[in-house]
Amino acid sequence: MKLWGGRFTKEEDALVHQFNASISFDQRLWNEDILGSLAHAEMLKKQGILTEEEAAQIIDGLVAIHADIADGTLAIDPTAEDIHSFIEAELTSRIGEAGKKLHTGRSRNDQVALDMKLYVRARIDDIDEELTKLLTVINDLMKEHLDTWMPGFTHLQKAQPVTFAHHLGAYFEMFRRDADRLADTRERMNYCPLGAGALAGTTYPLDRAYVARSLAFRAPARNSMDAVSDRDYLIEFLSDLSMIMMHLSRFCEEIIVWNTNEYRFVEMDDAYSTGSSIMPQKKNPDIAELIRGKTGRVYCALISLLTTMKGLPLAYNKDMQEDKEMAFDAIDTVSSCIPLFTEMLRTMKVNREVMAKSAKQGFTNATDAADYLVKKGIPFRDAHGYIGELVLRCLEKNCALDDLPVADYQDICPAFDEDIYEAISLKTCVEKRNTKGAPGMAAMQEEISENDNWLAQR
Ligand code: ARG
Repeated sequence: MKLWGGRFTKEEDALVHQFNASISFDQRLWNEDILGSLAHAEMLKKQGILTEEEAAQIIDGLVAIHADIADGTLAIDPTAEDIHSFIEAELTSRIGEAGKKLHTGRSRNDQVALDMKLYVRARIDDIDEELTKLLTVINDLMKEHLDTWMPGFTHLQKAQPVTFAHHLGAYFEMFRRDADRLADTRERMNYCPLGAGALAGTTYPLDRAYVARSLAFRAPARNSMDAVSDRDYLIEFLSDLSMIMMHLSRFCEEIIVWNTNEYRFVEMDDAYSTGSSIMPQKKNPDIAELIRGKTGRVYCALISLLTTMKGLPLAYNKDMQEDKEMAFDAIDTVSSCIPLFTEMLRTMKVNREVMAKSAKQGFTNATDAADYLVKKGIPFRDAHGYIGELVLRCLEKNCALDDLPVADYQDICPAFDEDIYEAISLKTCVEKRNTKGAPGMAAMQEEISENDNWLAQR
């Protein structure tokens, strides 16, 4: 039975029904739909729009339906038009006439806007929790790897030595910003659309502030046309999710590279690797690759909704039903990727020696060698030239700057002395870098204690 059959003289075509229906995906909003209806019914009672008796029947009925769906006693009818019709029809079949009064002063337009906001708000909280766990693992690893030296890269070429803690710290910043962004989105979206009606409010004396408060919104949404047609918050949320995936994907890419035979900086735990059906030697980083790969579908949800919304006149249009499927897919994707990634990172073996050796071999201390000459009064530009020549000589001799005899140094510039080795040792290069945010031990310890404080406040 349709909610809107009265005006129609012909049955809806079966294909039209199927095309129009949203039950196959909006059934996941059953919990939010019932919570919203409960708040609406309470308010209708408080305002004297429903009698005590009617409200009690409706509320008991909704609570029972909620319990029955939760424990699987009541299956959601796949032939219903949408979750709103299904629950209202079920209520009416259980309690009779009073059930038909629940929709007083409400439209499916403000109802679905509410359901979706409640759903998104809850998912923001879930994802925020997963981000906290990830950030905690990253921060713990930072504490463990304060003196794990590794090459820092630019252009994927070895640049200067850093520590693994420092490298991880960059990701801490990215995911911390992601958490901040989610909090901003949550704050901005937290206004209740219920009571906006189809678009123009209603003549019933609804108490919108009461409903907003009882559903933990900051206040009612201010303009009723905006309230039913606003999907900005969802676009913002999908953009937050896209950013999270972009960060996960970059991290996965690095782990995939580090896990290769050529690098061997890390080794993925067996539980997060898979084998090959033909090549017995293989241990593939499938999970990292899949997370990287799934980034595309989350971006897709964002672009899809932006595109759906771009030409829509006010207020509600059926196009907006398209806000759900891909958003749900994006939410599911991110919700599974973060915890998987967190465990993959936590269980990954870090090969400290390999990392340190790689840092030593790539002339990552060349800048420090130039700084050494600068401290002896040689202009930086000249020093840069001398070190360039020294690098060439090392390449000829197939050795690191650390292993080049002092005679070679002095041959190129007499200002060099035995203390050059100390000045360009990895230990010096990393540990003397203590400007705020740099990889030196003191600077990193400060960063970690700031991370600790930030995490403690969550
Ligand atoms: N299934 C619809 C949606 O998701 C619910 C709102 C229906 N409103 C309407 N005027 N047809 O947007």
